[in-house]
Amino acid sequence: MKKTRKTLIVGNWKMNLNVSQASLLVSRLHKHIEGHRDIEVVLAPSMLDLQPVSLQIDRRRFRLAAQNAYHKDEGAYTGEVSFNMLRDLVHYVIIGHSERRIYFHEDLGEIRDKVSAAVRNDITPILCIGETQVERRAGETKQVLHDQLTTAISNLTTEEVSQMVIAYEPVWAISTFGGEIAKPVDIQREIDFIRSQIEGLHGKQTSKEVRVIYGGSVDDHSARAYLEIDGCDGVLPGSASLNYHKFALIVKAAHRINEEEDGKKEK
Ligand code: PGA
Repeated sequence: MKKTRKTLIVGNWKMNLNVSQASLLVSRLHKHIEGHRDIEVVLAPSMLDLQPVSLQIDRRRFRLAAQNAYHKDEGAYTGEVSFNMLRDLVHYVIIGHSERRIYFHEDLGEIRDKVSAAVRNDITPILCIGETQVERRAGETKQVLHDQLTTAISNLTTEEVSQMVIAYEPVWAISTFGGEIAKPVDIQREIDFIRSQIEGLHGKQTSKEVRVIYGGSVDDHSARAYLEIDGCDGVLPGSASLNYHKFALIVKAAHRINEEEDGKKEK
């Protein structure tokens, strides 16, 4: 599949970095990451860090994502932050991350409601889906991906699906849950499966337009192999995004691949 859009690199900082540590990382990222027209770099700091980071970042080079939000727009929900409150602050929100599914017991219905709330508030969902090691060994990967995907997008229109991002994140490959290094051929197969599911529900055009990225122990060494997968629009590094050097190298690798592809096209 030809690359016709920007490569998406999303750094998920998880529950790391206080406000001053986040500020230090942002200033290092400013020094080490150039703006590239073919790359979209997205930072996903903690909820507390979002506001100060939004004031500090160069918006021509970086965009922001929230790591979570609550599906109701306002009301008596002590401790929660709504998508409505985040709408002017972030472009994206990560929804259905395996840490939220596993540690906070977010179920399919809750994730569907969050996806709808994000879209309703003009925030692009980055929907994470992926099977656990047990499910993988039981041969249930496709069933799990099917269930997680179809429920999450069940309230969206074709247009809304075409604009969202789907992150394939096999749970067993995420550093938190074992960090087994996934083989690009396996990722290719599941990305193809995800697009085929979208095609079945919303047609060929939408299955080409929807962005599908990969996450799970992506670092400066492995990024290139994942970014070269046909139909893979980007990566979602967690641990490596906390290291400015590694994160900058991932962005560089993505830009280099695009330059090489452009070179091939010109020949
Ligand atoms: P990791 O995290 O790169 O540390 O495995 C990825 C993620 O959890 O999204």
